[in-house]
Amino acid sequence: MTALDARPDTTAMLRFPGDFRWGTATAAYQIEGAAAEDGRTPSIWDTFSRTPGKVRNGDTGDIAADHYHRLGEDVALLRRLGVTDYRFSIAWPRVQPTGRGPAVQKGLDFYRRLTDELREAGIRPVATLYHWDLPQELEDAGGWPHRETAYRFADYAGLMAEALGDRVATWTTLNEPWCAAFLGYGNGVHAPGRTSALASLRAAHHFNLAHGLATRALRAALPAPVEVSLTLNLHALRPHTDAPEDVDAARRIDAVGNRIFLDPVFHGRLPEDLVRDTAAVTDWSFVADGDLETASAPIDSLGINYYSPTVVAAGTSESPSPWAGAEQHVRFVPVPGPRTAMDWPVDADGLHELLLRLRDDLPGTPLLVTENGAAYDDYADPSGEIKDPERVEYLHSHLAAVHRAIQDGADVRGYFLWSLLDNFEWAYGYSKRFGIVHVDFASQRRTPKSSARWYADAIAHNAVPA
Ligand code: NOJ
Repeated sequence: MTALDARPDTTAMLRFPGDFRWGTATAAYQIEGAAAEDGRTPSIWDTFSRTPGKVRNGDTGDIAADHYHRLGEDVALLRRLGVTDYRFSIAWPRVQPTGRGPAVQKGLDFYRRLTDELREAGIRPVATLYHWDLPQELEDAGGWPHRETAYRFADYAGLMAEALGDRVATWTTLNEPWCAAFLGYGNGVHAPGRTSALASLRAAHHFNLAHGLATRALRAALPAPVEVSLTLNLHALRPHTDAPEDVDAARRIDAVGNRIFLDPVFHGRLPEDLVRDTAAVTDWSFVADGDLETASAPIDSLGINYYSPTVVAAGTSESPSPWAGAEQHVRFVPVPGPRTAMDWPVDADGLHELLLRLRDDLPGTPLLVTENGAAYDDYADPSGEIKDPERVEYLHSHLAAVHRAIQDGADVRGYFLWSLLDNFEWAYGYSKRFGIVHVDFASQRRTPKSSARWYADAIAHNAVPA
């Protein structure tokens, strides 16, 4: 008997809209492996993970969850979960190895197989074009701080539209450009590991430009209707107190953490306060005429990845920081309460607050929660079952928060759980497990955890317990 079936009173359920999209999410470098197969060249994450000291235990994505060779098995897992949608990413160096020129057939074949199998299973493919694996050659030519990279990305988007346009339901241009720009080029904890505030701001701008150019390229190559989207890890911000200095600290982080993407993409402008706050770093002269108009090419939905809220006060933070100078005025205040294995606070209200903010700030923009989930130190009981009650509780409270946001008028169309499988958690390597399916990385054996059963129940009932 499952937790849901055990509830006699079915009215005590939080029901989602009839066409609600239920999915799981993954990313190429985190699960595929096969890093040197079929013409794939190194990405910045291959280089970074091979650099001593950058990734815990020296882990790399060389094999990861071996999804490249286990696609059928993984689609079968999705089928058993009953998801309506599956969010995955395309590895740019697998399909266009140097970041330039024609696509490589074998790379395309893999994504054709994946999307075909998904569709046969009745699952809508949601493809992300950039989940952080820039071809190393493009980094060597300057990477995201370099304007040309945005144009290369648009060409790649056009190639993928031609190759997979008849199969993909939703195209997401970028995943979490904040992380890619500020962790990749600002504090260097992500690939390519550069530490320059200027490079991070340039990268952020070129991500906005790349997003707009790619949106145009997708629309030019594909017949309407095509859903084009962007996924941001918006910071759910709270000032520590109502004191004006704390409110101003939140404003600063909102500018460099959220509005740096929201304003160009949805309003075709740069936040004035961001330009002021970063004056010591740059005069933003790398923004060319027309860039912001390009960045604001209309899109069909916004994806939000949410894990935890951020509480700030006036003060200072430690360097090196990813915040392009804002850390000189801002202190990050620990949030009390339970934490995940990432040491991230569990706070579902933050998701509700964020969705309501977007309801108010972006009326008419459908929202998708494109990532939400938690890492825990799961354990197998003597029967071999993998129990993860904390993850179930996390998912339950966050889905209830999504439901509450919908009731409050937020236009949330779907929820994608991060993640289907345990995988390569970037700088943490394989030490953190986010999957609802356990992966034994030695044998590559997949074992659904109790959260997988819980999620399948939620999907089957289109509801979670109240
Ligand atoms: C956001 C990223 O998109 C994903 O790749 C990562 O694994 C999760 N958050 C968890 O950190």
